Amino acid sequence: FALAAAAAAAQAWPSRPITMVMPYAPGGPGDTITRVFAAAMQKTLGQQIVVDNPAGASGTIGTAKVARSAPDGYTLLMIHVSHATNLAMYKGLPYHPVDDFEPIGSATNGPMVIVTRNDFPARDLDEFIAYLRANGPRVSLAHAGVGSASHLCGLMMMSALNVKLNEIPYKGTGPALNDLMGGQVDVLCDQTSGTVPPVKAGRIKAYAAAGKARLPSLPAVPAISEAGVQGFDINISFGLYAPKGTPRPVLDQLTAALQKAVADPELRARLEGMGISAVGVEQATPASLRAHLRHEIDTLGSLLVKAGVKAN
Ligand code: MLT
Repeated sequence: FALAAAAAAAQAWPSRPITMVMPYAPGGPGDTITRVFAAAMQKTLGQQIVVDNPAGASGTIGTAKVARSAPDGYTLLMIHVSHATNLAMYKGLPYHPVDDFEPIGSATNGPMVIVTRNDFPARDLDEFIAYLRANGPRVSLAHAGVGSASHLCGLMMMSALNVKLNEIPYKGTGPALNDLMGGQVDVLCDQTSGTVPPVKAGRIKAYAAAGKARLPSLPAVPAISEAGVQGFDINISFGLYAPKGTPRPVLDQLTAALQKAVADPELRARLEGMGISAVGVEQATPASLRAHLRHEIDTLGSLLVKAGVKAN
């Protein structure tokens, strides 16, 4: 009988609005990406999708909220690499990223770029690197919390350049970008979905793309490898999850709606404009996201532990 009731509930789903949790502050790349997918998927599912941002502690507060939610398809989680790294970073995490979630599918893939306040005193990438080496901790580095994507990128940058900057954690790169535009903080390494619009608007400066190649969204900005810096390459992928125990028919409908979204030319063009790409349909699957998460847990989590980085 319980099974029949669950099947009936799954058949009626969705009969009320769905909440998509994005566990970083509004105005950042995660928030923007989540809103793009919420808008696309609500058209397919025929119900409103509301975006909720319970930000803090590198996404662990919002992620815990989803883990605790009823597994009924009405609360979902959109998150990136921090789903993996936070497992290594936060002791006593009240959830397990693999055991307490059902993967729905990957959504996006995107590069990162090193940006600064507009009056940062360096004319080009070489001067930027020299300035960081000469000034070290007098330069502030904003990020979205220990274990966040911007933190990972900042750590990779400091390690590749052999510098130690003064880290300033925020609840997301939305507020970090605001302070960067206001000149209160010096440097941020963030996803292009957050940084490209203010760079193009002339409100912040971009010194390098974090990787081996220049970005089509910022063709005049050199790749960090052009300055002879090796081993600094990072890509951020967002994926969609539901709490463990969400009925399979509901998960299947969610995967189908996600696949329709990533294949939508309008959505793809919108993301391209921010310098990121929607994944291929074959990656918008539970198996692909599960494998991606396991890979990130195995590689990046242990990298942070080895580097001695601790959140608590
Ligand atoms: C955000 O949306 O604020 C970012 O994805 C946070 C981060 O750097 O991980």
